[in-house]
Amino acid sequence: MKGIVLAGGAGTRLYPLTRVASKQLQPVYDKPMIYYPLATLLGAGIREVLLISTPQDVPRFESLLGDGSQWGMDISYAVQPEPRGIAQAFLIGSDFVGDRSVALILGDNIFHGNIGLARLVESFTTGAHIFGYPVRDPERYGVVDLDHDGNVRSLVEKPTEPISNLAVPGLYLYDGRVVEMTEGLVPSGRGELEITDLNKAYLDRGELVATRLARGIAWLDSGTHESLLEASNFIATIEHRQGLKIACLEEIALRTGAITPAEFATLVSAMAPSTYREYLERVAAERA
Ligand code: G1P
Repeated sequence: MKGIVLAGGAGTRLYPLTRVASKQLQPVYDKPMIYYPLATLLGAGIREVLLISTPQDVPRFESLLGDGSQWGMDISYAVQPEPRGIAQAFLIGSDFVGDRSVALILGDNIFHGNIGLARLVESFTTGAHIFGYPVRDPERYGVVDLDHDGNVRSLVEKPTEPISNLAVPGLYLYDGRVVEMTEGLVPSGRGELEITDLNKAYLDRGELVATRLARGIAWLDSGTHESLLEASNFIATIEHRQGLKIACLEEIALRTGAITPAEFATLVSAMAPSTYREYLERVAAERA
C-alpha cells in the first residue's frame, strides 16, 4: 500500500506561528508535527509516500525530509495550489496512486497507541476503511454513526446536531478505485471535494468499513494554540515517563527493518549533538 500525507492549508488559526512556515512544520514537543503522521505510516509498513502541500511549503518539507531514503522511505512531493478539499489529494496524486490501494493521512493528525494499522494495511483488499474516535465536540469533525455490530449507518461532515460522539480522524484507507471515485464527486457548498463525500460514495456501495478506536488510543488535534500545546504536553509527558520517544522516524525505521543497523549508525553519527541523538545512541546500544 502507498501513502499520501496531505499537509496543506493556510493554518490561519495558528497565526502568527504560521506566517513563515506551515502548521505541519511547527513543533509538537521535540519534533516537527509532520513526523507524527509519517511515523504512523512508516510504523504500518508504508514506505512509498507522496507529500502534498502548498507551493510555498513543499520546498520546506523537502529540505526537512528529503527523499526519505534515510528512513528507508521513498518520499515524493506534489503541490496543492489552492485548498480545494481533502479528497483533491487523489486527483493531485492520481499518477502516484495509479490503481494501487492507498492510505491518506492528514499532516496534523497525531495518533498514539496501537490502532492496528499494520494489520489492516496487510489484509486490506477492497473498499474503504475509516476510524471512529469518541470526542467531546463531534460537531467539529466528520461524524460516523455505527450500529451495534459496528456497521456504518451514516456519515455527516460537521453536523450541527451530531448523531454520535464518534469523530472520523484524518486517516483513511482506499482501494485502487479511489481516483475514479474522486472524479465522480461534486464540490460542496464551500467549493471543496469533501473526504466525507468520498467515504459516503463507498458507503452507498456497501464498501465502507469503520474501526472504532479503543479508549487507550490518543488521537490529538493540533490546529489551535491550545490543542498544539496540549499535544506537546501529552507527548512530553509520555516520553518523559517512559524514556522512549514517540514518532522517532529513525528508531521506527530501524525497528521495522526499513533500514539496517549499519545504516542507522551512519545516520546517527551524522546528527548534530542533541538529546535526540543521545536517545538514538541509546537505542543502538540497547540493541547491540
Ligand atoms: C477534516 C475532515 C473531517 C475530519 C477531520 C479530521 O476536517 O473534513 O471529516 O474529521 O479533518 O482531522 P478539517 O480539519 O479540514 O476541518
